[in-house]
Amino acid sequence: MAAEAAPFVKIGGLADVAGALPAALRALSEEDAGGVKLDVRLVLPLHMVIRTEAATLRPIASFAVKRSGVDIGAQVYEMSSGDMPVYFIAGEPITTSASVYSANAALDGEKYTFFSLAALEMTKHLDWEPDIIHANDWHTALTAYALQIEQWNGKMQDTKALLTVHNLPFLGPDLTGRLAAYGLPLSQTDLPEWAHAQPLPLGLWASKKNVAVSPTYAEEMLTKKLGAGLENYLTIHKDKLMGIVNGIDAESFNPETDKAIPARFSAETLKERSWNKAALQQLAGLEIDSTIPIFGIVSRMTDQKGIDLALSAISRLKRKNWQAVILGTGDPTIEKQAKRLEKLFPDRVKVEIRYDEGFARKIYAGSDIFLMPSRYEPCGLSQMIAMRYGCIPITRATGGLKDTIKHGETGFLFEKEDAKALLKSMRETLEAYENNDHWQSLQRNAMAQDFSWKNSAKQYADLYKSL
Ligand code: GLC
Repeated sequence: MAAEAAPFVKIGGLADVAGALPAALRALSEEDAGGVKLDVRLVLPLHMVIRTEAATLRPIASFAVKRSGVDIGAQVYEMSSGDMPVYFIAGEPITTSASVYSANAALDGEKYTFFSLAALEMTKHLDWEPDIIHANDWHTALTAYALQIEQWNGKMQDTKALLTVHNLPFLGPDLTGRLAAYGLPLSQTDLPEWAHAQPLPLGLWASKKNVAVSPTYAEEMLTKKLGAGLENYLTIHKDKLMGIVNGIDAESFNPETDKAIPARFSAETLKERSWNKAALQQLAGLEIDSTIPIFGIVSRMTDQKGIDLALSAISRLKRKNWQAVILGTGDPTIEKQAKRLEKLFPDRVKVEIRYDEGFARKIYAGSDIFLMPSRYEPCGLSQMIAMRYGCIPITRATGGLKDTIKHGETGFLFEKEDAKALLKSMRETLEAYENNDHWQSLQRNAMAQDFSWKNSAKQYADLYKSL
């Protein structure tokens, strides 16, 4: 279960994971999945943005979810994605909040409470009973809580819930009142009082296992700095917390076959990569020169991603030859800062404020150094994509970045959360760039990493089995 999953609806990294992991699990052989063939199915809200494809949706169930004694109709539609059934749940609370995520906490709270409860109810109307309910982030965490209540009433005894945390600070809105309206008692939990009616904490409490999207993030969730106030609670329940790093879609993100980039290449044909660099320089209106190192950024422009640190470090680079290509949207203040940098260095910096998958791929394939100075990063996907395209990442040593990059071998890590530390790391990286042979060996190492979903899917399969 997830709020978003590619290719149906995508806002951020959650969609990549919820889109790819189910398919990767289904693709596991019986042997890799611990002796069973996994029948994984995906459940999504039928967001307004998905509605345009209604023609391909098959209605399969409809039932009522009770809210303050009034019936709210829920409709379930099925669509196949390859051989996988995907269930879309529709209903008034989902249509009323037209966007995937609303700035209005009440609308969001209503939408995802309804979705989470309707999804659980749905399992009683299909001739398919899940052994495992795998919820993701706060939006679907309540399903685990609702399951616990069912089990206290003697039902659904054979179903187990687990919750994957993609971004801990997003705990979801306070649902006191709303839960009662939906007939869900607020039971005694050992959660801190302030968190006792928030969906993510309730899901953490109710799930048999909590998974962070990287082992390092699982540890960081226990610290005051990154624990979102739940660090003590999570520490007490450390036994049920683990980390499984995400994969990337290694077929789609493949420089040997990618149609979105001008020239295809591999670790053996790195020379071809320079065509992509020249094309990027031309596209960005920068001087075409293969010796000038290009810094690339592809990111949501939010505080989490440390874009401000990158902008400040770039502006302080004294070295003569460098260029930067920056792509992303988000916080207007950060967008403006990026535009200001472009004004300051018009012949070196190109900033594009938009979401553009094709241009993103051209940056991965054409720039030399990928900047990702995240303040925290539960997993991070773009550093893995960058490495796959021979673009060497510089990132903070945090979360999944630390787990996927080998310092000095496939990229560069720095510790301190400031522009000075990043700048120092950028200077070191530029020195490495000067030595062509050394640089190419870094690129080959980075490109040789296996970031495909198979390994992570196996770990999830093991976990399902253990439950
Ligand atoms: C969130 C996290 C990111 C992670 C993604 C998928 O977007 O911020 O680090 O890669 O979820 O798990």
